[in-house]
Amino acid sequence: MYKSKFGLAIVLVLLALSGCGKKDSSTAGADASADSGTTIQFVTTQDDKPLVIDAKLFDTPAAKEFLATGKNPYIGNAEAVAKGKKIFQLYSCTQCHGADAKGQVGPGLIGPTFKYPKDATNKGMFETIWHGTNGGMGAKGVGLMDPTDPKNGITPDELLKVIAWIRSMGGVTGNE
Ligand code: HEC
Repeated sequence: MYKSKFGLAIVLVLLALSGCGKKDSSTAGADASADSGTTIQFVTTQDDKPLVIDAKLFDTPAAKEFLATGKNPYIGNAEAVAKGKKIFQLYSCTQCHGADAKGQVGPGLIGPTFKYPKDATNKGMFETIWHGTNGGMGAKGVGLMDPTDPKNGITPDELLKVIAWIRSMGGVTGNE
């Protein structure tokens, strides 16, 4: 009887302690992320002007990491690469760039040299595909691809997977 009450008391104390610990660390985490809430700044490929993309669209861990660092966490991730290939087909990139992205009506995308040199980086290629180019490629980003349908277009997470697929074929990793 005494023993089990004592045991219960220990459990309660431990629960209280762990509860406190959690509260402290989650508050600290929130503060830290608010303080270090710096994000990369996008620019358009057309004229190097600031390109504002709603941070809410970066809604997966990989997309959030990209927004914070400019690195594409999906590079070399076989599952993401396979999905990226499918998304490339889904958005008809194949029609202009070929099924293997080596070029058709549009240029090859593998590199290592690019029409827009910044496309050797993942941030640069993201900007080019998201907002389009001056020379024949429209914006593909969600909300931009079809102004009459704000839900139409590629999301940041999908675009990072597409880029991971393009990079999987050689050229550059874009994260250097
Ligand atoms: C209607 C045809 C067309 C479609 C569809 C298309 N593109 Fe393009 N893309 C082009 C053309 C043309 C260019 C060259 C643009 C220029 O010279 O400004 C280009 C350029 C690019 C570049 C820059 C290449 C470089 O060398 O800098 C990338 C990256 C790219 N496209 C990716 C994509 C992706 C990914 C998709 C699908 C989401 C896509 N494109 C869909 C026609 C297309």
